[in-house]
Amino acid sequence: MRICYNQCTVKKNFFITFEGCEGSGKSTQSLLFCTHLKRMGIAAVHTREPGGTGVAESIRKILLNPKNSIAPVTELFLYEASRAQHMHDIILPALSAGKIVVCDRFTDATIAYQGYARGLDIAIIRRLNAIATGNRAPDLTIYLDIAPAKGLLKAKAIKNGGDRLDRETLSFHRKVRRGYLAAARGEPQRIRIIKTAETIEETQSLIIETVRNAKRGIPL
Ligand SMILES: Nc1ncnc2c1ncn2[C@@H]1O[C@H](COP(=O)(O)OP(=O)(O)OP(=O)(O)O)[C@@H](O)[C@H]1O
Ligand SMILES: [Mg+2]
Repeated sequence: MRICYNQCTVKKNFFITFEGCEGSGKSTQSLLFCTHLKRMGIAAVHTREPGGTGVAESIRKILLNPKNSIAPVTELFLYEASRAQHMHDIILPALSAGKIVVCDRFTDATIAYQGYARGLDIAIIRRLNAIATGNRAPDLTIYLDIAPAKGLLKAKAIKNGGDRLDRETLSFHRKVRRGYLAAARGEPQRIRIIKTAETIEETQSLIIETVRNAKRGIPL
């Protein structure tokens, strides 16, 4: 459904995700972006994965607790279980209500982390992603690109040594980055690569410009 807004055509039910390695700025930038939309009078919801709703936030605690040793397939199912609940409770209802949903991490993270970095079968992950989301893919994905070593330093400093995933090796995080870049190469229309700039404000401007240039109907 399309409505007219400030002389622009606004596509309702827009779903945008933010992806990137640890400490790349996903939480900061996705929140700023959502606030920007709201200031423009656009109904928008900010949420995150894993988590976003009661049961899924409980799964998040299991996944991110550094004390837990979790087998790769268990990890995959936990992410997908969290996602299915999050879709059911938050994302689909918000999209149905005509809101824009801004989500900090989503399906591409599972391709990058459990697929490229853990080495699980990517075709199976795609199938599980499709089941968990009911085939509702993001309309646009902002991938924030940062050198993994730099991002990890930030993430570990903020999170007191880091969560279970932050504590993986640098080589693991380099594979994650390669996974994201491969995903972006495979779907260049949906996944837009943004090199994180020196300041938060510069990166935010790059994101707004990218969304504007993507011409998906968001009036920025
Ligand atoms: N473009 C930027 N330039 C400089 N610093 C930034 C930029 N974007 C975010 N930051 C800062 O980098 C740190 C990490 O940002 P943030 O927590 O948003 O990253 P994240 O990708 O959500 O990390 P995680 O993967 O750990 O959840 C924060 O201190 C944030 O203020
Ligand atoms: Mg974050």
